[in-house]
This record gives sequence, structure tokens and C-alpha cells, in this order.
Amino acid sequence: MKGIILAGGKGSRLFPVTTGVSKQLLPVYDKPMVYYPLSVLMQAKIKDILLISTPHDLDQYKRLLGDGSQWGINLSYLKQDQPNGLAEAFIIGESFIKDDPICLVLGDNIFHGPSFSKYLKDAIHQSTRNQKATIFGVKVKDPQRYGVIKFDKNGDALKIEEKPDLPKSDFAVAGLYFYPNSVIEISKKIKPSKRGELEISSVNQIYLNELKLHVEKLGSGFTWLDTGTHESLLEASQFIQTIEKRQGIKVGCLEEIAFENKWISKETVIKNANLLKHTDYGEFLIKKYLNVGD
Ligand code: DAU
Repeated sequence: MKGIILAGGKGSRLFPVTTGVSKQLLPVYDKPMVYYPLSVLMQAKIKDILLISTPHDLDQYKRLLGDGSQWGINLSYLKQDQPNGLAEAFIIGESFIKDDPICLVLGDNIFHGPSFSKYLKDAIHQSTRNQKATIFGVKVKDPQRYGVIKFDKNGDALKIEEKPDLPKSDFAVAGLYFYPNSVIEISKKIKPSKRGELEISSVNQIYLNELKLHVEKLGSGFTWLDTGTHESLLEASQFIQTIEKRQGIKVGCLEEIAFENKWISKETVIKNANLLKHTDYGEFLIKKYLNVGD
């Protein structure tokens, strides 16, 4: 299983904040936004990760994240010339994906909640063993902003609609998708939508038509945040601040996940932490790991 982080786009809904800087590099409380989706792939135990962004933003991502070896992962980078749609990620990433199944996470989505590792494990199982895709449905109050899942009387998914004027349910499709390798060919076949994009919802609809789409509903205790507007970006920062302060945890802490996965040693954690000395993030790591055994 490989992973792609899609971190391009114009970020036009956040202008002028994003006129000079890529949206997914903006801070969400104490870390860059892209740390959160990267942490999701690492929680899924995915080590080979491709980050896709615009030609002029890629260098900044490379400066921030490097080759990933500081977290025991392999990071590579490719550009998307124009924001032609989410499904273009699989076409751009074809030579990286090769014959593997693939997980796509959007660079501006944040996930936090119970049983997340189990959800991720099950999704990987579906795409590797059953050749099925997995998408995650989350109840929201403004479904028309998202891909929306229509269900039948038995609760089975019937249709996936992208930003419908009249949503058929309150369940939005979150920006985390698991696919078998067939997603590359499917993405090449779909046509751009009315807004000129290769829509991920068109890809999901094809898997649904072929009875190969698994829809996992994330329960009410689960938090899924997108950061598409000034308001939701601020709320995301406030949410992370609140739970980190209250619970004494760090959300999206890459060293913590890498250590738990046994990808890096305690010495590497401390080395990374020392580069972030005098920050909450660095001090959290030093306090937690200085005295533990490897
Ligand atoms: O956040 C979940 C939603 O993401 C899903 O419910 C929708 O089905 C899906 O289409 C998508 O909707 P958005 O309106 O949020 O998509 P947006 O155009 O904002 O792009 C999502 C992220 O992907 C954003 O950080 C920019 C990046 N992106 C987007 C496009 C279209 C790219 O890197 N390249 C692109 O071509």
C-alpha cells in the first residue's frame, strides 16, 4: 500500500492568506496543516508516500519534509501543473504507484477520533484482499459543500454526488480514500465534470456501480475537519489547541507515530525534538521519550 498527499490547488477561498503561500503549509495551531494528513498515512503504516503540489510550491514542501528519513518514511514529490481535479493524482502518480493499492489523503483534511487505526486497517484490507475501494462518510450540517452519499432504505450507498444543490443525505465524503490499483485506469477513463475537474466522486461512483465500494461511516465521536474557509481554518486551530491542552496529547505528531510504528529509534526522536527546542512540540517529545527504552 502506498500513499499520496494532494497538496496543490489555488487555495482561492483563503485569498489573500494563500496568495503567497500554499494553503497546506499554513499553521493549524502548532504545526503545518500538511502534518495532519501525513500523520494519517503514517498511522495507516504507509511508508512510501508521494506529495503532489503546484510547480511553484513543491520546493517549500521539500524544505519542510525532506526525504522523510527523519520519520523512517520515503517521501517523493511530483507536480500538478493545473488543479485539474483530485482524480488526476492517480494519473500523475502512476509511476510511483506501480502495481500497488493506493491511499489518497487531501492535504487540508484533519482526522481525529477513536478506533481510527482500526478503520484504516479495515480499509487497507478491503483494497488489498477484496479489490474494493473504501470511502468514509461523516455527518455534517452543510453537505452541499462536499461529495454526498445517498443511501437506500437499508442504509446501503446508492449514489455519490459532488456538491449537490439538494443533498440526499447529511453524509459527506471525507478526503481520505483507499483504492485497489485499478484506480489508475478508472481515473484515466473518467471525463472532466461541468466545472472542468476529474472528480473523485466520479471515480467513487464507478466503484459503487461495480459493487466494489465500501462506505464506512465515521461515528459521532469522530472529528473530521476541513480547512477550506477562514472560519473553518480558525476553528481547526482552536480544536487542536483545546484537545492538546486539555488532554496533554499531540495530534499529528509524526515522531510519536514513527516511534510507535518502530520506524525510528528513541535517539532519532530526541534528535528531531532538539531541532524544535523551545517549542511545545519539541518539549512534548523530550518529556515523553527522553526516559523510555527503545
Ligand atoms: O474535503 C472533502 C471533499 O474534498 C470531498 O467531500 C469532495 O467530494 C471532494 O471533491 C473535495 O471537495 P473540495 O471542494 O474540498 O475540493 P477542493 O477543490 O477544495 O480540493 C481539495 C484539496 O485538494 C485542496 O487542498 C486543494 C487540493 N487540490 C484540489 C484540486 C481540485 C489539488 O491539489 N489539486 C486539484 O486539482
